[in-house]
Amino acid sequence: MKKVLLLIITLTLIAFYFSSISAEKPGQAFRADYDGLAMTPPMGWYPWNTFGQEPQNEKLIKEMVEALISSGMREAGYLYVGPDEGICYYRASDGKLTTNLERYPSGLRGLGDYIHQRGLKYALYTDAGTLTCSKAMPGTKGHEFEDMRQFAEWRTDYLKIDWCNTKGQDIVQTYTLLNEAQRAAGRPLVHSLCSWGVGEPWKWAAAVGHLWRTTGDICEPGKADWNSAMKIVFANEKLYEYAGPGHWNDPDMMIVGMPGLSEAQNRSLFSLWCMMAAPLIAGNDLRQMSESTRQILTNIEVIAIDQDPLGIQGHIIRQEGQVSIWGQKKLFDGSQAVLIFNQNNSPSQVTISWDELGFSRAASLYVRDLWKHQTTGPITRGLSVTVPPNDVIMLRLSRSKDFPLPPIISADTYLISLHSKSSKPEKLSASLTIHNAGKVDLPLWKVHGPLPPWLFVKITKKGNNQIITNQINTAGLSPGYYHTIVRLDNTEPISKRPMSAFYYEVELEVK
Ligand code: GLA
Repeated sequence: MKKVLLLIITLTLIAFYFSSISAEKPGQAFRADYDGLAMTPPMGWYPWNTFGQEPQNEKLIKEMVEALISSGMREAGYLYVGPDEGICYYRASDGKLTTNLERYPSGLRGLGDYIHQRGLKYALYTDAGTLTCSKAMPGTKGHEFEDMRQFAEWRTDYLKIDWCNTKGQDIVQTYTLLNEAQRAAGRPLVHSLCSWGVGEPWKWAAAVGHLWRTTGDICEPGKADWNSAMKIVFANEKLYEYAGPGHWNDPDMMIVGMPGLSEAQNRSLFSLWCMMAAPLIAGNDLRQMSESTRQILTNIEVIAIDQDPLGIQGHIIRQEGQVSIWGQKKLFDGSQAVLIFNQNNSPSQVTISWDELGFSRAASLYVRDLWKHQTTGPITRGLSVTVPPNDVIMLRLSRSKDFPLPPIISADTYLISLHSKSSKPEKLSASLTIHNAGKVDLPLWKVHGPLPPWLFVKITKKGNNQIITNQINTAGLSPGYYHTIVRLDNTEPISKRPMSAFYYEVELEVK
């Protein structure tokens, strides 16, 4: 009897341990299980917060693409970029979505190809109702399958689906149908639900999408609103149990770097988003970003908290007046992130103790200040800090002196385009490079599933990078156009968690 009791206690403890390191509930279905997408919160740039509908056009998006690259944001993991609501397509008389060529002269497919060639991923916007919010563009209602085929043809990688003009529609059925339509279209795609918390998507949407807005809009276009951002933070915080790899609470695009915000507010907002494992979609004008904003948005040690492979959303563990202490953000290497947010107009002294974070009081911990980039310690019991007014202190605590950064992946291109010169059999080759801004050395990426017979993929290491060589043999191919999407998989070596699948495309024209 004693043995059985001991076994039950041990099993309960093991189950408790695993449930505490992962937000996933047994038996829950996740869309990310089959597409491997967004295993860490998606990062990118979207135009809405700064521009609204005007002037969204091809030139603007391409300028942002270049700014993402030159600012170092691409290498820091910001990948998804494209138009939000901004009349980029209309519905033609045959029912098909068609590019608004006045604004997008290369066509929406041409813009997608440009974005992919520049090593970024393509984001587009639509609505689940009859029309988009401003009623300027068509929604998908009644056209779900053909529209998702069109988004696939445009080579969309990320689709935000709004919830305007949906009178009489059942929200679960609608987004479920859109998920089926996306799967039928055959292109892997990050599905971003945007119902502003309507229908409590955190309770059901992980099966049909990868992220869902939890609240209303963070601001009117062009008008950063700090108070509205704070309301969003404290509403989103409460939903921490629902987030995890492949399924995220989305408190909206960021307002970091928009006019009217102080440096301390920018730092605070960014830290809060990272502590909440929120999608990091920048919304500022990247072409005119100050150096301070650039440094905040590319602080890799803070991004590492957001992009941690365990995918845990941190939350408030103690509130003292206008000071909130955020914790329970366990990280892949056994360390933890802590955020102290002071909303007072004066400095606040705060003491945190190791036991309130789940460490033992006697634990000897190294303390890394993620904004000052300094390590102190080892320290036992706890520590006292003074947080400047309306600012944060963000720390990472570890038993070890090392603070490894998890993998943060980018690539120099996502589209390999090759053309044969004649009808004679030819051997063609082109490579792409996968960078890892993290400090963990990755195993080799592995090809998932069969490749077409004309393509052979070889993967080699070069320092921290991996080179993906694509070898093509046109022997036996009749003239025409060939296209395939290659999926590569990997596992983070310390926590052993699967990483977001790496997809890229190879197209070939045979004469
Ligand atoms: C909604 C969304 C915003 C933006 C606008 C476009 O309000 O929540 O993020 O996409 O629609 O009209």
